[in-house]
Amino acid sequence: MPTILHINASPRYANSESLRLAWHFIDAVQVAGPENIELRTLDLFDDGALPDFGRTAAAAKMAVFSGGEQTPEQITAWESARDVFDQFAAADAYVFNIPMWNAGVPYVLKQWIDIVTQPGWSFGFDPEKGYRGLMEGKQALAIHTSGVYAPGVPAAFGSDFSSTFFADWLNFVGIEDATHVRFAPTVLNGDVDGTRKVVEAGLSESAIGFAGKLSALGTLQLVNDRA
Ligand SMILES: Cc1cc2nc3c(=O)[nH]c(=O)nc-3n(C[C@H](O)[C@H](O)[C@H](O)COP(=O)(O)O)c2cc1C
Repeated sequence: MPTILHINASPRYANSESLRLAWHFIDAVQVAGPENIELRTLDLFDDGALPDFGRTAAAAKMAVFSGGEQTPEQITAWESARDVFDQFAAADAYVFNIPMWNAGVPYVLKQWIDIVTQPGWSFGFDPEKGYRGLMEGKQALAIHTSGVYAPGVPAAFGSDFSSTFFADWLNFVGIEDATHVRFAPTVLNGDVDGTRKVVEAGLSESAIGFAGKLSALGTLQLVNDRA
């Protein structure tokens, strides 16, 4: 069954512009795609949504990197991280909605990235060739919103290290089939509704291709299940 994991990085729920657009996109994919799409949602700001990734987990990671033994405490932290990664790896496609926070991504999204981006899980490393993403054959759509910043604004209106960081990370873990959609500015904008409509129309377009790939995947999964 083709699975979409929707990762919501806004805490503003009913007021969230990026979440509203994510729902618009997912609805359009569900209309255009196969009937049996499974949708899972991770609300990153929910209490307990993510385990800590601090002193113990970082030591567990460095033990993996250096080939050392993990302590029992580190094993527990590593297993908690692995559960989050397993949810990520189990999906075929991703929808991310990402508000810009202080020119970057909201800290919970960075926390999630720090949890799932582990050697041997989402990336490999070769001392001669460097890094290699392991999340192959997946597709992603990322929605970026910002209140003031928009491409081409003077420097005094801010910078974008959010979409650039996130696009780089997707590529780092091997998700090369990625579409980035921007709704900006959402606050300093005399026609928010008009701008949103244009973005929604673009998302409806993108949903057709996204859904088509999920349909093809569903057929492939069916053939493999029967074989
Ligand atoms: C903590 C915080 C920091 C923000 N930092 C920026 C920023 O650096 N640049 C900007 O243009 N907008 C910034 N904004 C505005 C949001 O990016 C904007 O309102 C966006 O549409 C929020 O998306 P959402 O409605 O999905 O939460 C910030 C908002 C918050 C709450």
